Amino acid sequence: MKTKGSLVVLGSINADHILNLEHFPTPGETVTGQEYQLAFGGKGANQAVAAGRSGADIAFIACVGDDDTGSRVCRQLASDNIDISSVSTVNDAATGVALIFVNGTGENIIGIHAGANGALTPELVAAHQDKIADASALLMQLESPLESVLAAAKIAHQNQTKVVLNPAPACVLSDELLGLVNMITPNETEAEKLTGIRVENDEDAAKAAQALHGKGIETVIITLGSRGVWLSEQGKGQRVPGFKVNAVDTIAAGDTFNGALVTALLEEKTLNEAIRFAHAAAAIAVTRKGAQPSVPWRNEIDEFLQQQG
Ligand code: RIB
Repeated sequence: MKTKGSLVVLGSINADHILNLEHFPTPGETVTGQEYQLAFGGKGANQAVAAGRSGADIAFIACVGDDDTGSRVCRQLASDNIDISSVSTVNDAATGVALIFVNGTGENIIGIHAGANGALTPELVAAHQDKIADASALLMQLESPLESVLAAAKIAHQNQTKVVLNPAPACVLSDELLGLVNMITPNETEAEKLTGIRVENDEDAAKAAQALHGKGIETVIITLGSRGVWLSEQGKGQRVPGFKVNAVDTIAAGDTFNGALVTALLEEKTLNEAIRFAHAAAAIAVTRKGAQPSVPWRNEIDEFLQQQG
């Protein structure tokens, strides 16, 4: 039986090693950083945390290693209002790791070791199929094996669970997978990877959105950084601007946007209201350092929105 308004996130869990430095090192160069932070991250976990903290009824399908990091991450996720009964501990595997440089202007570059995330197989997805079938929406990204993302999308589609795909990191995807997606949320780079259309302005975004509609996706939201998002529903597009804040670190801004967006949609907010809510959550996140430490709670988002009038 479907639990109305409930969400399942399927995705990655990482321990983020973050080094803040003035500029990114070039090959052969060593740069001394000003600040080092070890924090929980991973696109799947960040989106799950954003949903949990913004009030969703959410379960998470993911894998951790049988190490100390894995058990600490699980405790943290549970305290973020997430049902972790479908987070598996993988024997003899290390929890995923991300090595992140953040430069003086808040940009980041990221290298990843999948570790236990690679053990999220289609078989494991099948073992949790009831969770997907009973939910109203399934939110996924691309740091998990692609065949597992496809397997989960198929289960969702067969059970009228809406599939929301944040196609990050950028990757070419099959028409089979895209045809199972109800809503897609690429950034400009990811939209170009999926459509071959370089997104530099609203006109390009409209064209890329049209190409994604052509694959069978009803709702396309292309995130445009500080310019907001391009929202296109069945071919009708508009730009929805975000909020202006002083960004110190954009890690997990997109993840926060996605988790908050789906939470608001499951509360039956309109698309424009849900985007405004998600913009607010992401705006708060970029004013703070790290991935999960930067993700706001519901009361913070509501307060931010009230202040905007
Ligand atoms: O989107 C940000 C995330 O990407 C980081 O938390 C890091 O773990 C990588 O997965």
